[in-house]
Amino acid sequence: MSEPRTISELLDAAERVLSDSSHIFEDHDNRMEAEDLIEFVLEADLDDLDDDEIPSRREREKYLALVTRRAAGEPFPILVGSIEFYGMTLEVKPGSFVPRPSSELTVDRAVRRLRKQMKSRKKPVVVDVCTGAGPIALAIAAELPATEVWGTDIDAEGLAQGRRNANLLDIDNVTFRKSDMYKAMPKRLKGKVDLITGHIPYVPPDEVADLPAEVKDHEPLFTLSGLSKDGLGLIRTAVQQAPEWLVPGGWMLLEISEDMVPKVQRICAKAGFEDHGYASDEDDLSVVVEARLPR
Ligand SMILES: C[S@@+](CC[C@H](N)C(=O)[O-])C[C@H]1O[C@@H](n2cnc3c(N)ncnc32)[C@H](O)[C@@H]1O
Repeated sequence: MSEPRTISELLDAAERVLSDSSHIFEDHDNRMEAEDLIEFVLEADLDDLDDDEIPSRREREKYLALVTRRAAGEPFPILVGSIEFYGMTLEVKPGSFVPRPSSELTVDRAVRRLRKQMKSRKKPVVVDVCTGAGPIALAIAAELPATEVWGTDIDAEGLAQGRRNANLLDIDNVTFRKSDMYKAMPKRLKGKVDLITGHIPYVPPDEVADLPAEVKDHEPLFTLSGLSKDGLGLIRTAVQQAPEWLVPGGWMLLEISEDMVPKVQRICAKAGFEDHGYASDEDDLSVVVEARLPR
């Protein structure tokens, strides 16, 4: 086959290569990624370009090299250095967990719960445990500037990215702290936290090998797996320790996969939480279990 030259040939070739890749999740929109990558390389909006336009040789080579890296499993946000998340552009670097659009559901649910709390609490406190690079913490803080948001994680690289994005976006009501769960949180916040969010590792260790390369080769194992046999060890710890930090009536929102809902709801019930069901988005990529301490 001849070398793709026009924009439409380049897009078709890229979509084919991405669709044939076994290193990335099957449910990605490959056409959209091919289009986003060409916009990235040409620094132009596709709507402003003609299908039969021929980019320079250097641009074509750069584009095809990026497509090859993507097909080999490099996460899209790492290739382009950023991700759009809840209306913000977050810088993304390799070395920690890459924020996922599916976590926007956690932000939606948290903001909804917090808006109600704010009728009686003017400055609610939020903790995002296992915050990684902080997308959930940053989005809640940006959406509700009156909140005091904390993000905790054991991963210094993720936390550095969170702090950098907070600076770039001028978000000053979020604090990132290196901490095993809540351990390094200020003691003054015990019993004062209104809501805890957690996108906590939950992949059972023996299922990590089945993940595509874009996850298992590019994100550290400790960001993916709960390390207990059922994968839920870290969720258990986060839920068991939460009541010590929450106000009566405080919320715990956990982003997990749908098959884990009954188990996670049992973990919450055992720790004294009332069950408030779970929310899912239209793609069902992840769900958010909602639990509340009795008032
Ligand atoms: C699935 S990632 C989610 C990151 C982020 N919340 C997001 O949605 O992009 C889970 C995070 O848990 C962190 N983690 C693992 N064990 C932890 C622990 N004991 N205490 C705090 N964070 C932990 C990992 O470093 C990782 O950043």
